[in-house]
Amino acid sequence: MMLELKNKFILDACCGSKAMWSNKNHPNTIYIDIRKEPKGYRGYGRKEDVNPDYIMDFRKMEFPDNVFKLVVFEPPHLSKLGKTSLFRKTFGCLNTETWPVDIKQAFNECWRVLEDYGTLIFKWSDSEIPFKKILKLAPAKPLFYNTTNYKATSVTKWFCFMKIARAIGGFTKT
Ligand SMILES: C[S@@+](CC[C@H](N)C(=O)[O-])C[C@H]1O[C@@H](n2cnc3c(N)ncnc32)[C@H](O)[C@@H]1O
Repeated sequence: MMLELKNKFILDACCGSKAMWSNKNHPNTIYIDIRKEPKGYRGYGRKEDVNPDYIMDFRKMEFPDNVFKLVVFEPPHLSKLGKTSLFRKTFGCLNTETWPVDIKQAFNECWRVLEDYGTLIFKWSDSEIPFKKILKLAPAKPLFYNTTNYKATSVTKWFCFMKIARAIGGFTKT
């Protein structure tokens, strides 16, 4: 497939309903997800849809290498959800057996499509799988992340990575 990338230098690698976006149709962004859902798919009068520009698997993206300046990646966080769970419907669900391989492949793809010195923002909620376990699957160490830890209210963390060029050794896990 030939994808039109003109003026598109930001990628959301699994956009879902784009709840975190201020502008859900940002003109410089390509949104992908593994599925499409109609408005109101969550029921109970909720209005969200899942409407990516392309239906695409984050483990095997159809983009050339080094094309985005910013990639944002918020995969499903949970693996133990019932078939009819609203959480599963809204956020998707990790495969209980293959998730480490799936997330590693996705990280590698996010890194591949990111240009040198580009930024990867990774969002993770460690209510089931501790973030330290997930970071072992990442292609580099994060530069920084939020260290506040109000367990009672939120366990969501935002991690910032930069694809620092090989020439200065930034691809290593140092
Ligand atoms: C936590 S939600 C993303 C929420 C989104 N950031 C927002 O602001 O609403 C995770 C999304 O990953 C998608 N997903 C799961 N597996 C995927 C895959 N292999 N490739 C692409 N997207 C996938 C799910 O369909 C789900 O919409």
